[in-house]
Amino acid sequence: MTTDACVDAVGVAETTEAYYDSTEADSFYAAIWGGEDIHIGIYESPDEAVATASARTVERMADALPALGADARVLDLGAGYGGAGRALASRFGCRVDCLNLSEVQNERNRVLTRAAGLEDRVRVVHASFESIPGPEHAYDVVWSQDAMLHSGARARVLSEVARVLVPGGHFVFTDPMQTDDCPADVLQPVLDRIHLDSLASPGFYRKHLDALGFSELGYEDLTRHLREHYASVGRQLASRRDEMVRRCGPDYVTRMLEGLQHWVDAADRGHLSWGIFRFRKHG
Ligand SMILES: C[S@@+](CC[C@H](N)C(=O)[O-])C[C@H]1O[C@@H](n2cnc3c(N)ncnc32)[C@H](O)[C@@H]1O
Repeated sequence: MTTDACVDAVGVAETTEAYYDSTEADSFYAAIWGGEDIHIGIYESPDEAVATASARTVERMADALPALGADARVLDLGAGYGGAGRALASRFGCRVDCLNLSEVQNERNRVLTRAAGLEDRVRVVHASFESIPGPEHAYDVVWSQDAMLHSGARARVLSEVARVLVPGGHFVFTDPMQTDDCPADVLQPVLDRIHLDSLASPGFYRKHLDALGFSELGYEDLTRHLREHYASVGRQLASRRDEMVRRCGPDYVTRMLEGLQHWVDAADRGHLSWGIFRFRKHG
């Protein structure tokens, strides 16, 4: 499927939900990441397991948070299978709401959370981050990993983050982005795969969050890991091709391999940016 030039945010959310709810996508992500995470890893070596590198990203982001007590409330936007939520609840004893569009992923999240004995700390919420349920000032930290790229209304997502955070609250996130100086149209193969007409850029987040009353605390540029990650997932998939064709079907595997290569190519051309952003809402 290709993107319509004028992306309708509701249509985008429906397409994304249907994609992540599909058996093929669920089988693919659970098999390659091990069922906990679906985000870009931080690699210590190119042959490191995707799951190990992905867990490192969660750790690195958590290290960047202020100390969280047991009464801290965290919201994970686009939480996938909830691996980060469980990691944060285990490490800090805090409460985490995992907000996510895909009920297939949410169900796995509930099962894993019960198995980890964390159901009193981690709550799974089926919703879109473009319209976050609940009152203003409900959270001390908003967290998000590689999810906002799927939005056709990112400015609205950021307004929602500003609404639900307490004054002084922290917003920590990663998102695969285009560079601020990325030429027009060069990312079309990447965009077609995620059914969107744009990626955000670091400048986009800085501009909108500044206007919403946030200060930037830091951006750790980790773009080389984005390249490493998509290449690594591609190698994993190719080496397990027969098994993955049985799980996800030949078309899904072929399209995924092509899509992963588009990300690698765009990274090699210097058009992508990825890293850990930290912002604080003014008190
Ligand atoms: C690449 S996965 C990342 C999942 C998770 N953050 C992680 O790191 O494992 C992107 C996630 O964004 C979620 N998502 C996409 N659009 C969303 C929306 N509008 N509202 C809530 N979640 C959304 C998908 O369901 C999917 O779980």
